[in-house]
Amino acid sequence: AIDLTGRHFLKELDFTAEEFRGLIALSAELKAAKKAGGEVRRLHGRNIALIFEKTSTRTRCAFEVAAADQGASTTYLDPSGSQIGHKESVKDTARVLGRMFDAIEYRGDSQQAVEELAAYGGVPVYNGLTDDWHPTQMLADVLTMTEHTDKPLEEITFAYLGDARFNMGNSYLITGALLGMDVRIVAPAAYWPVQEVVDRAHELAASSGARITLTEDVGEGVRGADFVVTDVWVSMGEPKEIWDERISALAPYAVTMDVLRATGNDDVKFLHCLPAFHDLGTKVGREIHERHGLSELEVTDEVFASRHSVVFDEAENRMHTIKAVLVATLAGGAQSA
Ligand code: CP
Ligand code: NVA
Repeated sequence: AIDLTGRHFLKELDFTAEEFRGLIALSAELKAAKKAGGEVRRLHGRNIALIFEKTSTRTRCAFEVAAADQGASTTYLDPSGSQIGHKESVKDTARVLGRMFDAIEYRGDSQQAVEELAAYGGVPVYNGLTDDWHPTQMLADVLTMTEHTDKPLEEITFAYLGDARFNMGNSYLITGALLGMDVRIVAPAAYWPVQEVVDRAHELAASSGARITLTEDVGEGVRGADFVVTDVWVSMGEPKEIWDERISALAPYAVTMDVLRATGNDDVKFLHCLPAFHDLGTKVGREIHERHGLSELEVTDEVFASRHSVVFDEAENRMHTIKAVLVATLAGGAQSA
């Protein structure tokens, strides 16, 4: 079993391809053990701090359920309920929490904050999403892909449509490059990841055998894809006013049934980290609907509800994969059964 004792998970490149694959394998084992009612608790008496400076449904619940399943306890610090960043520096917070907890999860804007927690906490620190990376999401997405194809990772093609300059776009490009996949970033050039991230992806591809394509052309980008993936067009922390600009730039990149057909793969699967604007019945959605007269954004309701969609498997897999990170870093990766 994979042993990552004491290691941080701040971005995908904290792990080698082999370690990343090891975490996927451990996730699958832990998932199977739980479903069979044979989960072994490896984290008895451990305490994990969960700092959320931004809201969350999946990531928070995944950490809490994963920890509870393994016998560990969690303390949730909500976006307004701690001194971090307001009255107390990240560095001091790290030094305090590191004295009480065995590990710390952090979600916020700043990659620098999660790096600083890791530098001063003295315990494993996990990135639960920053503006730059969403590494725990990548484990769930790769596990989900492996469950929905018989192909080995190096033979999988996926296309990411939408705003690729933020956490999800960056993370997909680097993860695909690390694991030797065929990665397509399909977006207007102004929405591609920054050059430094693209360069890093090409360097990784040189040794992993990954194929990297950045294109503005949807037809070319999705052709032959096994998976089509997207994300919201406006991320947490971005101003509402930006919707106008995003909608006009990204509307041609919405995932519709035509886009799925353009893959030429009748069995293509659709992923989305969620939350998704596939219908605008939510509070934020209604505001967008009133302003722009649209009823769906980055993905149509038809795609979301179709046989192609595996978004709820993906959401469930957040829990199994985060559990693997906890077990690997806190319990020496002990096998689940
Ligand atoms: N996908 C994801 O990170 O969801 P939450 O924002 O609900 O945690
Ligand atoms: N890009 C999105 C991902 C949400 C899980 C955001 O940062 O809000």
